[in-house]
Amino acid sequence: MKDEPTLMRISWKKYESLSLTEKAHYFNEAGRLYHIMIAQQFDRSRMDELGMLATIIRRIAKTEEGIKFLKDLLSHKRAMLYFSQPSSRTFLSFCAACQILGISIGEVRDTATSSEFKGESKEDSVRTFSSYFDLIIMRSEVGGLAERMAWVLSNSERPIPIINAGSGKDQHPTQALLDIYTLQRSFEGNGGIDGKRILFAGDLLRGRTVRSLAWLLTAYRDVKQIFAAPKDLQISEDILAMLDQKKIMYQRIDDFKSLIPEADAIYMTRIQDEWDTQKAGKRNERDISKYSFTGNDLKRLKKSAVILHPLPRRSEISTDVDDDPRAVYWRQMRNGMWIRTALIATIFDRKEMIKAYASYKGIVV
Ligand code: CP
Repeated sequence: MKDEPTLMRISWKKYESLSLTEKAHYFNEAGRLYHIMIAQQFDRSRMDELGMLATIIRRIAKTEEGIKFLKDLLSHKRAMLYFSQPSSRTFLSFCAACQILGISIGEVRDTATSSEFKGESKEDSVRTFSSYFDLIIMRSEVGGLAERMAWVLSNSERPIPIINAGSGKDQHPTQALLDIYTLQRSFEGNGGIDGKRILFAGDLLRGRTVRSLAWLLTAYRDVKQIFAAPKDLQISEDILAMLDQKKIMYQRIDDFKSLIPEADAIYMTRIQDEWDTQKAGKRNERDISKYSFTGNDLKRLKKSAVILHPLPRRSEISTDVDDDPRAVYWRQMRNGMWIRTALIATIFDRKEMIKAYASYKGIVV
């Protein structure tokens, strides 16, 4: 693909001036996903393909022989997990995804233990990782940093792919992909995601998972997005402008509870007060009971509806909801491991091998 846009052929200044949809063209290599940076890289066919691959991998991994097949696929590769912001699920599910594919892993989870502590720049740190590893998976509190690092590496002697595992308040594309996979699975046999009403609740301003997911949902027909949040934490104008431009139905409301009976999926989020200015170790606790889901609310929820949460949670979903079959957030978390395995297998061009193995073994999806 000679004329494919690439980060190698664009200045950082020009790249920065592009819209997100324009940027999305710059992350492929040879027509295949390479850097995973933003939700705008994923159209419906890519999401369908990824979901199908995740399901095939999940089914292959049910036997010892299948586990061994998967483990041989990328046993010559090494991945660096560079997480300068706290994480449990994303970090561990990426670790597990690498292990499933036989990839060895290294990690920096605290820059106080790396040479950044001595004043090394992020650029130099990432170039250092690329000397030893074949893939970088990074989470940072700095919005846009993963994109900058992808550009730096693509213009270095050792270009390797980078996966954005959460950047500032802007994007968390792999979380949104696992959310879509969870919705695909939840609505199997019920018309799929098309035509559904998705009710988001909580801190929609700083929840990067919501920002990425709001984009991915625009790939589905007649989906209505409803945003329930306190005024100061409502979904931001840039997301609404994007929905307007794509002629997507949406609604911004204050009264979350009143919309519960109409929702096909409820996407709960926690208040992200780590972004507030606050004294170290002290949270700015606020009353979020209006944006919480309790055991009582289950009575008003459709039988076919599902409750998602990117987790971690605090009190926005009470624990008496956990055992209801419509509470899918634990399954959603495990789906993250499968979708991330599918994503890494796609980056390293193992998709066809996996499909061929499944077909040979009579695994149908
Ligand atoms: N959903 C999510 O990103 O969780 P972690 O912060 O635990 O990775």
